[in-house]
Amino acid sequence: MFVLGIESSCDETGVALVESGTSGLPRLAAHALHSQIAMHQAYGGVVPELASRDHIRRVLPLTQQVLSEAGHGLGDVDVVAYTRGPGLAGALLVGAGVACALGAALGKPVLGVHHLEGHLLSPFLSADPPEFPFVALLVSGGHTQLMRVDGVGRYALLGETIDDAAGEAFDKSAKLMGLPYPGGPWLAKLAEQGDATAFKLPRPLLHSGDLDFSFAGLKTAVLTQARKLGDDLEARKADLAASTQAAIVDVLLKKSLAALEQSDLKRLVVAGGVGANRALRAQLDAACARRGVRVHYPELHLCTDNGAMIAMAAAMRLQCGLQAPTDRYAFDVKPR
Ligand code: KG4
Ligand code: ZN
Repeated sequence: MFVLGIESSCDETGVALVESGTSGLPRLAAHALHSQIAMHQAYGGVVPELASRDHIRRVLPLTQQVLSEAGHGLGDVDVVAYTRGPGLAGALLVGAGVACALGAALGKPVLGVHHLEGHLLSPFLSADPPEFPFVALLVSGGHTQLMRVDGVGRYALLGETIDDAAGEAFDKSAKLMGLPYPGGPWLAKLAEQGDATAFKLPRPLLHSGDLDFSFAGLKTAVLTQARKLGDDLEARKADLAASTQAAIVDVLLKKSLAALEQSDLKRLVVAGGVGANRALRAQLDAACARRGVRVHYPELHLCTDNGAMIAMAAAMRLQCGLQAPTDRYAFDVKPR
């Protein structure tokens, strides 16, 4: 069975084709991605209307590219999957509209996928896929969650952010330092040349005893520090970036270890854009190795939004009979 997946929740248009049998993990046949980052950079953030228009421009050429790379045609597609939410409403509607139009034209059913489930299952696309059960740390631009995952669709939320997401903390702090959008990767790069102990920044909720996160206070502390530095900010930027990254990574690390301990599991899956962060990976790898815990990540290029994770999540849900695709094409999206 071939599942075509379309991702358009934010600023990346992603399309992928996944092949799945009755058993064994579905396999990625081809995928293509167009990032709108360059387009939004001039505005310092995503402009929703521009995002929607660009998804419209890109989605069909990307679909043709994927099918041609996989050596298949539209007629070979059995199910069309799309991101149903969360995300920008207009952007989501493009993917949903195109998926349902393709489904209706081909006489094939469609399936709406939760964007976070896509991220969560993206490590199954890697050469070293995890096994259930595991603890998942889901860290993206919009979400920060710890979950116990017992199987496809069997997710228990252990903790989440009560305000900003980890990616947001990276992005907003980076913006305060005058770095381009999206700030996360830029801040991480700058941090490599800085001293992580240069500034004492808060680690909110580190000792709260639960598995919740809070990053809003950190952003305020970075702002206060940046103001205090004034003209010296430019010269101390790398130190501030390194200290900010250390604070975020420290909280993510400690809470992940606490979640592993509480659930008595020896497997951790890290997914979402912030999962691409090298400092986070290095610290998790070291701490988990000491505890005999195996850590699984998506491949670096599949950490941020992409179509492969949507096609994969759909294929895995279909394979275990969790969800039947539908031929009712009156689609809706769930921005929140
Ligand atoms: O998962 P994702 O592509 O989109 C959402 O679903 O939100 O995550 C995007 C987030 C952004 O906040 C971005 O700055 C962050 O992931 N990010 C990083 C890195 N690469 C992407 N944050 C820190 N270090 C990185 N290397
Ligand atoms: Zn995402």
